[in-house]
Amino acid sequence: MSLIGHDKPVILGGNPILEQPVSIARPTLPEIKEIQESFCQIYNSGMITNSNYVQQFEERVADYLGVKEAVCVSSCTSGLMLVIKALELTGEVIIPSFTFFASGHALLWNNLKPVFVDCVPSTYNINHEIIQKCITSNTSAIMAIHIFGNPVEIESIQRIATDNNLRVIIDSAHAIGTRYKGRLVGSFGDAEVFCLSPTKVLTAIEGGIITTNNQELAKKLRIGRDYGNSGNYDCEFLGLSARMEEFNALVGLKGLEHIEEIIAKRSKLVNIYQENICQIPGISFQQIDTENTSSYKDLGIIIKRDEFGLDRDKLAYCLDIEGIATKKYFYPPLHQQSLYRKYQQSPLIETEYVSNNILCLPLYSHMEEKIVQDICHVVWRIYKYQEEIAQISTCDVMDR
Ligand SMILES: Cc1ncc(COP(=O)(O)O)c(C=O)c1O
Repeated sequence: MSLIGHDKPVILGGNPILEQPVSIARPTLPEIKEIQESFCQIYNSGMITNSNYVQQFEERVADYLGVKEAVCVSSCTSGLMLVIKALELTGEVIIPSFTFFASGHALLWNNLKPVFVDCVPSTYNINHEIIQKCITSNTSAIMAIHIFGNPVEIESIQRIATDNNLRVIIDSAHAIGTRYKGRLVGSFGDAEVFCLSPTKVLTAIEGGIITTNNQELAKKLRIGRDYGNSGNYDCEFLGLSARMEEFNALVGLKGLEHIEEIIAKRSKLVNIYQENICQIPGISFQQIDTENTSSYKDLGIIIKRDEFGLDRDKLAYCLDIEGIATKKYFYPPLHQQSLYRKYQQSPLIETEYVSNNILCLPLYSHMEEKIVQDICHVVWRIYKYQEEIAQISTCDVMDR
């Protein structure tokens, strides 16, 4: 897309292009008629949690991902907490700082020390080449995260882990439908944990699902999600109350039927974004290795102020007044948040660069292509008028 028209952006007094405000993400749910009957049947059966639908959902997910076990839990965070507990990790765990805080929280809840590793600025994922240097005699595991659905370099991470006798936990919150070298993620490492909250590619309204080929671990996790009670009312292991409701499993099951269409649709929307705004100087997209595919849970672009003419915050501000919601995600990174600052004294240069310059644009599975085109048009006209916009006092351009 070259600049369509020469209309001024709203910040300079132009008219909005979008008819309606656009959210950053919206849940894609099954039609109510698809679930109504089963919903009533669950409601009337009295078996409303951790029963038949949960079991069916687990079987379908395991089948889809090609993994032996899938264990439904109440959230991805509780899933991560339980996996860590069940694996009896101790000491330090290597983790990227460029992630959502739930990944780190799961470590702290288990009294583990996070050891932060920088990311690769083009992929936003953990830089596996630095991991080895961060391993000490106290390290028990590596937690990797497929950021926005872009798969981490799993083989290299697994090799480092095997050589150093470490566990690998993958926070796959964003990555249902992601493929690493052609294979769906879900069966890598010791366990992977997916998130099913409303903004995710597959939602169960809320919920999480742990996948693993380790059947002993799965057994322990099933006990763990039920307080650690194996049924004899004599807990041997500190669990959580983290079961999934039948209603959630029902919604997840229905969504799963459409997962491949959803992934294809998101990929198409991202292509439209790329084709239309990649020529704008100073905008770059997350790099996905050609052997891999992303679920595109989010679309995060990096804004280079020197080339684009405006920084990320000012672009976010301009888009906001055009009715386009964006998100500075993940900003700040973990090691710069109050809770985590004590674990990392030195800067993490690439993580800070990505975090300070990233902006997630609207993306959801039932989004119309026309909306993406309109957003691209708006970005172009902001770029076109960047010099005039840059003159506007920045005192209003707060971190919103
Ligand atoms: C990377 C990552 N990990 C974990 C979570 C936590 O998921 P949940 O809200 O299901 O606990 C999220 C949530 O968005 C996330 O983005």
